[in-house]
Amino acid sequence: MTGTSTGGTSRGKRMKIVCIGGGPAGLYLGLLMKKLNPSNDVTVVERNKPYDTFGWGVVFSDATMENMARWDSETCKEIRESFSHWDDIDLLFKGRCIRSGGHGFVGIGRKKLLNILQARCERLGVKLVFECEVSSDEDYSDADLIIASDGINSRIREKYAATFKPDIVVRPNRFIWLGTRKLYDAFTFDFQRTQHGWFQAHIYKFDKETTTFIVECPEHVWLAHGLDKADQDQSIAFCEKLFADNLQGAKLMTNARHLRGSAWLNFQRVVCEQWWLKNRNGSHVVLMGDAVHTAHFAIGSGTKLAIEDAIELVRQFKIHGDKPENIPDVLAQYQEARRIETLRLQNAAWNAMEWFEVCGDRYCDQLEPEQFMYSMLTRSQRISHENLRLRDKGWLEGYEKWFAAHTPLERAPSLGAPPPMFTPFKLRSVTLKNRVVVSPMAQYSAVDGIPGDYHLVHLGARAMGGAGMVVAEMTCPSPEARITPGCPGLWNDEQMQAWKRIVDWVHGNSDAKIAVQIGHSGAKGSTRRAWDGIDKPLPESGGEPNWPIVSASPQQYLEGESQLSHAMTRDEMDRVRDEFVAATRRAVRAGFDWLELHCAHGYLLSSFISPLTNRRDDEYGGTLQSRLRYPLEVFRAVRAAWPDHLPMSVRISAHDWVEGGITPADAVEVAKAFKAAGADLIDCSSGQVSKKEKITFGRMFQTPFADRIRQEAGIATIAVGAISEADHVNSIIAAGRADLCAVARPHLANPAWTLTEAAKIGFTEVNWPQQYRPAKVQMQSNFAREKAMAAPPVPEKV
Ligand SMILES: Cc1cc2nc3c(=O)[nH]c(=O)nc-3n(C[C@H](O)[C@H](O)[C@H](O)COP(=O)(O)OP(=O)(O)OC[C@H]3O[C@@H](n4cnc5c(N)ncnc54)[C@H](O)[C@@H]3O)c2cc1C
Ligand SMILES: Cc1cc2nc3c(=O)[nH]c(=O)nc-3n(C[C@H](O)[C@H](O)[C@H](O)COP(=O)(O)O)c2cc1C
Repeated sequence: MTGTSTGGTSRGKRMKIVCIGGGPAGLYLGLLMKKLNPSNDVTVVERNKPYDTFGWGVVFSDATMENMARWDSETCKEIRESFSHWDDIDLLFKGRCIRSGGHGFVGIGRKKLLNILQARCERLGVKLVFECEVSSDEDYSDADLIIASDGINSRIREKYAATFKPDIVVRPNRFIWLGTRKLYDAFTFDFQRTQHGWFQAHIYKFDKETTTFIVECPEHVWLAHGLDKADQDQSIAFCEKLFADNLQGAKLMTNARHLRGSAWLNFQRVVCEQWWLKNRNGSHVVLMGDAVHTAHFAIGSGTKLAIEDAIELVRQFKIHGDKPENIPDVLAQYQEARRIETLRLQNAAWNAMEWFEVCGDRYCDQLEPEQFMYSMLTRSQRISHENLRLRDKGWLEGYEKWFAAHTPLERAPSLGAPPPMFTPFKLRSVTLKNRVVVSPMAQYSAVDGIPGDYHLVHLGARAMGGAGMVVAEMTCPSPEARITPGCPGLWNDEQMQAWKRIVDWVHGNSDAKIAVQIGHSGAKGSTRRAWDGIDKPLPESGGEPNWPIVSASPQQYLEGESQLSHAMTRDEMDRVRDEFVAATRRAVRAGFDWLELHCAHGYLLSSFISPLTNRRDDEYGGTLQSRLRYPLEVFRAVRAAWPDHLPMSVRISAHDWVEGGITPADAVEVAKAFKAAGADLIDCSSGQVSKKEKITFGRMFQTPFADRIRQEAGIATIAVGAISEADHVNSIIAAGRADLCAVARPHLANPAWTLTEAAKIGFTEVNWPQQYRPAKVQMQSNFAREKAMAAPPVPEKV
């Protein structure tokens, strides 16, 4: 290392560093900075005594340990020697114990960890000051750098809240962090039902004598049991009784006597916009660890994040040189590097946390233990089906068998079970061969509403591509119901015959089913084909003229641009309902297997459901129940015209993504209403109701809506949106988050998406069209070769 201005460590140049808070972040940063340059003057100030700390054990993953080994092998070695290591996860649920392996955790007592770090700090010459409560960063006027590692309730973060802009969300569950002397050989989750709701315990051994025992429940369950009035001893007695079968006489213990009141906490999720500043003394102050971000214990990564923050800061000093003048650059780089990594982890932790928040109401009573276990293991949505296979092949294969046995699959048991994606699904008299649906996609290529050769080739190719069902694009019951002049219809027999040709072709040349999606564009009609300006009204001159548009209430979809729709009169409502029915009758004659009613995306029926677009003051506006009245009327009329033995689904926007619009909780009520009217399945899309929407995109981003509706409304669902690989489909179906997965854009890129994905995961028992079979084996062996050459995947932490 040199002390030149080009970077590197500047031996001899002294930096004065003060860490406020001697948790994992402060201590690890302190020892690494001293190690980087022994002439650095490093002090860690901690309000507690050296052996006085809250909590019991913390868990790490193997990856964190490797990182620590690179930066300070001594502490890593000591920590490793003190570890409890385990691979298995046990679920205790409804009188069963289900075990799955390969999860690779290590646990260590928090006290032990801190003592190792403290001792290492002392050996390296870091000054440790205990029993000193710091009131302000400005007490250290000569410090170059002040590390605010003062934990989740950081005083320093609060002091500079205007700059750091913390966003703190207090979560609804209550938890108490206890310990016990009973030792467990697996990370154990124990779920117990009471008369007021479910409790869960997260249990893991962290040394030879002690186990962490965190008990958690929703606020309403906690209140119903009067735990808000219970002191620590009463809370412990309550938990001992609740988990008596598990504890078998062992006692629960607290070491949080310093907390006043009940010691049941709410988790606070902390995110900060800015991580550092320069204070009035000219010292730089930087947030680290829980002070700047928190990750819920459901994912067990808070300590990992704190340690990795420290590592990153030191890495930046190593790159830029540890001189006071480099501090601003170092801090800027530190924030940039850590912000993204932290958000990624916080997102995963958020999913896992939410799972535990809702599991009592959403999963515990609904799912059987096997599926409950799968849902729990994949709760963060970072662990996928194939990842579970890597961890514990035997358990996953057992689960696949269990899952397949709950489907109408007919095959010899000796063949083993197919992955969940390739199990059949039956609704009314229709059985889909697998769980993949080609999502409806407008092609804007019909002439006078008649689907032509283009549609035959487009839909035919996708029917040959392996999906269980192809849903044709939104098809309109009248010319005015079209989105664009290129949209197909079913308002005359010529269109019906054209559809029949396609349906017959699909039935004659594939084993896929084909569905029609009937919808009316409402205020989003009379617009250009997507490639000429999506949602824009037809041009004033040339081509087809604009036609008048209707919706629940007067509306202009693109402000200042779209035509203004008018509110439907009752006469118009009658006419449109009858047109839906007539289109349905033609769909029957065309031979479709399935009918989907389009009530999503701001189109006519959706415009009645959303309060953003329905401002009527008659019986079709107002409460959700009233807003649903007309869509339900149309649904019932269509259902009556659609054969009893054929299924009917409804596509909804389960979230408007706009304040004051439809929420996922409303969507559950919408689903219940359609279910009561005879719907078999809800296709859970979202958005496109208002241009003000702010959507949080991400892989499988709408799947939580399908999951929630499936469990809470008790109806089959389709998940759709950014589902792009077999692993996604398998995880969604296996966890019971949906019954089918609709895949749209990937099918534009590759009509044979399902066949390709099957080959990718090595599932060979899919039928290819006989004309294409020579390509099957070649594709399978190409993917197998690619997989063999790729580095072995590393399982991610739960
Ligand atoms: C129930 C529960 C279970 C958890 N399980 C895990 C797990 O399994 N794995 C995991 O990695 N993480 C876990 N965590 C999170 C983990 O404990 C924290 O993320 C981690 O300790 C953060 O380290 P830190 O150094 O930033 O903060 P802390 O560990 O909170 O340390 C902050 C320190 O600053 C001190 N301090 C605060 N203010 C002052 C002041 N004004 N003056 C002087 N000293 C001050 C405090 O006394 C404390 O020692 C869990 C947390 C909870 C609540
Ligand atoms: C070109 C295109 C046209 C679409 N047309 C329709 C449609 O007619 N009806 C409908 O309900 N959704 C339609 N959608 C939405 C898709 O069905 C699907 O919900 C959306 O694209 C998200 O899925 P994906 O991430 O797999 O693409 C369309 C999407 C695309 C890309």
